[in-house]
Amino acid sequence: MSISASPGATVESVRDDVIGWRRHLHQYPERSFHEERTSQFVADTLAGFGGLEITRPTPTSVLARLVGAVPGPVLAIRADIDALPIEERNTHAFVSRNPGTMHACGHDGHTAMLLGAVKVLVGERHALHGEVRFIFQHAEELAPGGAEELVKAGVMDGVDMVIGAHLWSPLAVGKVGVKSGSLMTAPDLIRITITGSGGHAALPQQTIDPIAVAAQVITNLQHIVARNVDPLQPSVVSITRIAGGTTHNVIPSEVELEGTVRTFDEALRTEMPKLIERIVAGVTSAHGASYTFDYQRGYRPVVNDEGASALLRRAVVNALGDGVLTEAIPAMVGEDFSAYQQRAPGAFFFIGARCEERGIVQPHHHERFDVDERALDYGTRIFVAAALDFLGAGRG
Ligand code: NI
Repeated sequence: MSISASPGATVESVRDDVIGWRRHLHQYPERSFHEERTSQFVADTLAGFGGLEITRPTPTSVLARLVGAVPGPVLAIRADIDALPIEERNTHAFVSRNPGTMHACGHDGHTAMLLGAVKVLVGERHALHGEVRFIFQHAEELAPGGAEELVKAGVMDGVDMVIGAHLWSPLAVGKVGVKSGSLMTAPDLIRITITGSGGHAALPQQTIDPIAVAAQVITNLQHIVARNVDPLQPSVVSITRIAGGTTHNVIPSEVELEGTVRTFDEALRTEMPKLIERIVAGVTSAHGASYTFDYQRGYRPVVNDEGASALLRRAVVNALGDGVLTEAIPAMVGEDFSAYQQRAPGAFFFIGARCEERGIVQPHHHERFDVDERALDYGTRIFVAAALDFLGAGRG
């Protein structure tokens, strides 16, 4: 491919760097809002490339601006850098050295791919009409998320378009999924407390058993998606934590429930707390119990702009050929990339990272999650191609 004819690095020449960076980051994962060492590594690596304006908008994030020779539009490219509270069970040579913390979502790869793209694009500076702004974002995994903080810190000021990617285990390596419109959901959080009246397990008539009531509430909540929501409108209501009781012969007085609600549609999202509370109120009252209900809105849904999606499609085809591009399948997960999309047209896309033959098949957030490292090169190439396309390189 002819992406880089400059005196700088080529995509081919940074491939080993990218894998090396990814493995280093994988060995030293850090949790959301605590990415001190990671962000310092990113800042130091960027400084080594030269030609960048590097700042630290928050204590554990890094922003790098590559300002081209001629004025023009600004393209932002975002990578998230944080890891998860998971004990890694992989056995490869670069397994996590921070006990209880693991890059189990692929953000180590995101960071490395984007560093690779920066290294290549620094050498293309003379050809860039405008600015490429590289956002190395902390805390994607933990609400309220790093993206919102970075937007408040001004990283999106003057940005005309924003792109970002996720290495994607549902998709095979060798494929890249792009889709305009809805891609990822709004992940909201619910907390319910059901209060009855405790007592002896053998004398239930003297109690209001909150465990029995909680069971009814959980079962009835499944009616929302099955019976209240338009079947053509994707949504999820999951109760994921239930806590109550201490031993076999005591009926407790209280049960706690926690769960998640996922929607794409804003009208349905607004409706969800009402539908849930209606069931909680009705069921608890039918059994003489009481409740508290808390609904917290999480990230906004990721909705891709048509123009930004078209830019990505061109970048995939130009960098990797026709056979690689596929239509992304939306996912019920959430992503705070959506915060950037409030400030500029943007698109998020999926880079296939699964490989059956190599046994790289575990889902994201699994203790043996891994990515096929051939996928990293795809990300670097797409970011470079998108920047050269958007900033009119070679056309001036
Ligand atoms: Ni992730």
